[in-house]
Amino acid sequence: MSKLDLSRLTETEQIELLNLLEIEVKTSRYCPHEPTDRQRLFLDLPHTEAFYGGAAGGGKSDALLMAALQYADVPGYSALILRRTFADLSKPGALMDRAHEWLRGSGARWNEQKKQWRFPSGAVLAFGYLDNETDVYQFQSAEYQFCAFDELTQFTERQYTYLFSRLRRLSGSDVPLRMRSASNPGGIGAAWVQERFIPDDWTPDQGRKVRAIDKAGRAFVPAKLQDNPHLDRQSYETSLAELDEVTRAQLLEGDWQIRPRGNIYKAWSDGPNGHHVITLSQFEKVFGQQAIPSHWFGACGQDWGFDPDPCATIWNFVASANSPLPGAIFTPRILTCRAEIPDAVADKINAIEAEEGWASRIQYRVMSHEASSQCETYRVKCGLSFQKWKPDQIGGIAQMQHILRITDLDQPHPFKPWLDGRPNYYVVVPDDQIVNPKGDEGLALLREEFAAYKYVEQRVTDMRGANRIVPFDFFNHFMDAQRGIAARWFAEVRPLSADESFEQSLPAGVRRETVTKLEGDQRDFAELARQREVDKRKKENRENTWSNVIVEANDNPWSLIE
Ligand SMILES: Nc1ncnc2c1ncn2[C@@H]1O[C@H](COP(=O)(O)OP(=O)(O)O)[C@@H](O)[C@H]1O
Ligand SMILES: [Mg+2]
Repeated sequence: MSKLDLSRLTETEQIELLNLLEIEVKTSRYCPHEPTDRQRLFLDLPHTEAFYGGAAGGGKSDALLMAALQYADVPGYSALILRRTFADLSKPGALMDRAHEWLRGSGARWNEQKKQWRFPSGAVLAFGYLDNETDVYQFQSAEYQFCAFDELTQFTERQYTYLFSRLRRLSGSDVPLRMRSASNPGGIGAAWVQERFIPDDWTPDQGRKVRAIDKAGRAFVPAKLQDNPHLDRQSYETSLAELDEVTRAQLLEGDWQIRPRGNIYKAWSDGPNGHHVITLSQFEKVFGQQAIPSHWFGACGQDWGFDPDPCATIWNFVASANSPLPGAIFTPRILTCRAEIPDAVADKINAIEAEEGWASRIQYRVMSHEASSQCETYRVKCGLSFQKWKPDQIGGIAQMQHILRITDLDQPHPFKPWLDGRPNYYVVVPDDQIVNPKGDEGLALLREEFAAYKYVEQRVTDMRGANRIVPFDFFNHFMDAQRGIAARWFAEVRPLSADESFEQSLPAGVRRETVTKLEGDQRDFAELARQREVDKRKKENRENTWSNVIVEANDNPWSLIE
């Protein structure tokens, strides 16, 4: 074919022609919709892996279906579209239904049993769902050139990556291999999806321009509601207006950074200007080292899980009576394990405690009571003796709320002097993990759970038939592990008045309560000693910002063990 000479066309005609050619090349005749600019961008991406994420109603699901059909005329082409459940797939207006609308009368034939369309070319478009983690194995012998996940945040990362192994090139054709997905922000998998596709510093504002954003070779196309002229925006926005602020920002703006705010630990505040998370450097300024001092005691809590729920292990340490902030609790580490047997988890726990020098200082270990066999394995095979804790639904929450509360508002925060007041619980992270924490190094899941932990009305009524308000039974692994420690191990912490706290800082022999019991010379002598101590302390207190909170030990908290 000789080269087309476009120079005789006007500029507008040239663009029109190119657009026409583009449409013929890139969209299939089976697709009745003209792609919007952003959908076209998504369809044209050369990347193996691409994600269309953002506002609901932006045309993401449509784009997945369009993309699946792009090569429907190529013999042997095979495409798969997945939703998490069959119900999601088959709802009216959902993808399977939409495909019926598009393909009815097109010459493509529907096989109800296999849930797949076969095109006259021999190409196939199949629909599937992955309710359980193991459902991926249905696809173990299949091969696709196109695999799409709609509402990706409802899937686990393992399900997603497994399907990668099913992408196979079609011999004798240049059909590209494509992994495509779409999702609104939010949902249980939001964190891994965000981590995989969305740059840390991305904001919805940057999504105005129609362009793909690259993260480690993967493409992210931000979806905007404004892109989709085919939607009755007014009524859509009105219906979204009913939603809470966070969900609205997620669905309307496509905001990936915003997180649902829980209602249990309202005092919780994270980040460089939050009260509860501090860096190792800030810790060092007060305690002189970047590690838990070797004379502090600790506790270890675990919420057993295997897959997809993780096994969550957390360590707490209490600042000793002779250090600044006596009684304050510090969380320096967490361990998240997925699909690991108890022996493997115990090995990791033992390795961490050996590395940190904690092993002999753990006073109390507690784990969820239903994990009885795991508990036995830990004890018999691994030398880790966990107490079983049968949490009622709110056990430990009051203790956590108490310890998270910001007190001493007239004094500077001990680690961040530009803040007022302080809690009695701190999560300690490496300096580079204070924002955008990653994985266990940044104690990411723990911090996310603290912020999101919430009460919900229990759907199933209890035996007495009453609806109850209980903590949301999802996404609370570290919260449960932490509650176990809090319910049993935290000494009761109560703020003292400035006066009481000052008295507590004096040696017992010169405290008012002791001195006033003495008589005669002894008393005079004690008064003198007291005065000296008082002067000394006052001078010291001017120089640092000690806590005025002390630990009032429970009678013996360790005796409550079952
Ligand atoms: N290019 C298009 N042409 C015509 N209608 C479209 C187009 N893109 C999306 N739509 C329609 O707009 C509505 C919302 O699109 P959808 O793909 O479901 O959005 P999302 O998945 O982002 O929530 C659907 O009814 C869809 O069919
Ligand atoms: Mg959709």
